[in-house]
Amino acid sequence: MFQKIDSNTSRLLSLKLEAIKAERTEHLLIILALVSIGLLFTWWFNQVINRGLRTILEIFDDINSGNYKSRDVTSLQSKDEVGTVITRLVDLQAKLKENIDSLQKQMKESSRVKQALDVATTNVMIADNNFDIIYMNESAVEMMQAAEADIKQEINNFDSNNLLGGSIDRFHKNPAHQRKVLNELTSTYKSKISVGRRTFNIISTPILDKNGERLGSVVEWDDQTEKLAKDKETQHLAAENSRVKQALDSVTSSVMIANNDLEIVYLNNSLDIMLRNAEDDIKKGLNNFDINKLVGTCIDVFHKNPSHQRNILKDLNSAFESQLTLGDRTMRIIVNPVFSDSGERLGSVVEWADRTQELAIEQEIDSVVTAAVNGDLTKRIEEKIKRVFLVI
Ligand code: HEM
Ligand code: HEM
Repeated sequence: MFQKIDSNTSRLLSLKLEAIKAERTEHLLIILALVSIGLLFTWWFNQVINRGLRTILEIFDDINSGNYKSRDVTSLQSKDEVGTVITRLVDLQAKLKENIDSLQKQMKESSRVKQALDVATTNVMIADNNFDIIYMNESAVEMMQAAEADIKQEINNFDSNNLLGGSIDRFHKNPAHQRKVLNELTSTYKSKISVGRRTFNIISTPILDKNGERLGSVVEWDDQTEKLAKDKETQHLAAENSRVKQALDSVTSSVMIANNDLEIVYLNNSLDIMLRNAEDDIKKGLNNFDINKLVGTCIDVFHKNPSHQRNILKDLNSAFESQLTLGDRTMRIIVNPVFSDSGERLGSVVEWADRTQELAIEQEIDSVVTAAVNGDLTKRIEEKIKRVFLVI
């Protein structure tokens, strides 16, 4: 009985053992398969993560080196965290590129404006909202350098080489006034300021951004000192000329002035009367003579060979006297050059004297004297001439 059981048991046991062995092998195979899958998955996962991280690093390197052009990362834009990071990074890079492009465009525009301002002939100065001078163009620098000594007479801390970066308050007697003016400025504001012997016209304009926010103020400077001095000099000269003209107008000598182009620019009252009286007689020799059209006429039209007169007048540096026949009249002219204070030739002045009557008397007396010398005492001086002598 025992034997029988034993052999059965032993068969059963060996069967069981077989089954256990088979199950174990199966388990081992499953575990092996799972471990392999696990290892494979880890390897694949690492590959994906590494690729993703490599790409992220490359994008950072691109940004770092200023390359904002996005790479093609479509194959990496998965829904997992790495893919999301890459997508966000690429978006960020694109936005950076957009901002940088726009900034570069603005910088280019500003640079063009600055370059134009730098060389503009208007003197431009810019102050920021803290009232610090942040810009001066070349012309403004030169103007301030030229005016430095004069400005120092009134503002002794003024230094043309130390304007940039400093406050405008340094130069204002009551800085609160300028600050108020500038803070309230909405459009161009013109004023005239005097510093030492200098006078400046200044035009202040607010600088506003697209949203109307104040960025600072720009000031255009115009040094009026020289112009005002010239205006004063011109007024002085005009007053002097007017006095001389008034004097010339009323003197008894008969005066005519021609400019360097030999155009008659002036004749005084005495000459006007003299030539008006002689007009008919003059016309007998010069039929183009018209007293009403003398001013503005070139003297060449009265001269047979104009180059002769031009040669005489060209190098004239002292009085030149001559006698001319104008139709029935004989005129003595004394021509003098006219020079400016600086020695520049301005034209010629001519004093005219109608010698017709005087010559007639001289001739008459000559003929009476010649007759008497020849023993003829019967010749008498003409009545008309006697009257002239009585007047003398
Ligand atoms: C961007 C720079 C500057 C701005 C925005 C500015 C602005 C002004 C303004 C708005 C006025 C008032 C004019 C009026 O009330 O009619 C003024 C006056 C004056 N500024 Fe300036 N200024 C600047 C730079 C300077 C500099 C560099 C000097 C030095 C020479 C100066 C000297 C004066 C003087 C002497 C007056 C008149 C008298 C006074 O108020 O002290 N300014 N400025
Ligand atoms: C500012 C104005 C004038 C100047 C500077 C001027 C100058 C002269 C000079 C330098 C001569 C040369 C004399 C010589 O060679 O001895 C001359 C001659 C003469 N001038 Fe004039 N003259 C002026 C206006 C006139 C006018 C208004 C007339 C006419 C009315 C005139 C008619 C003559 C004539 C007829 C002669 C003689 C020689 C010739 O016909 O060319 N001149 N003048």
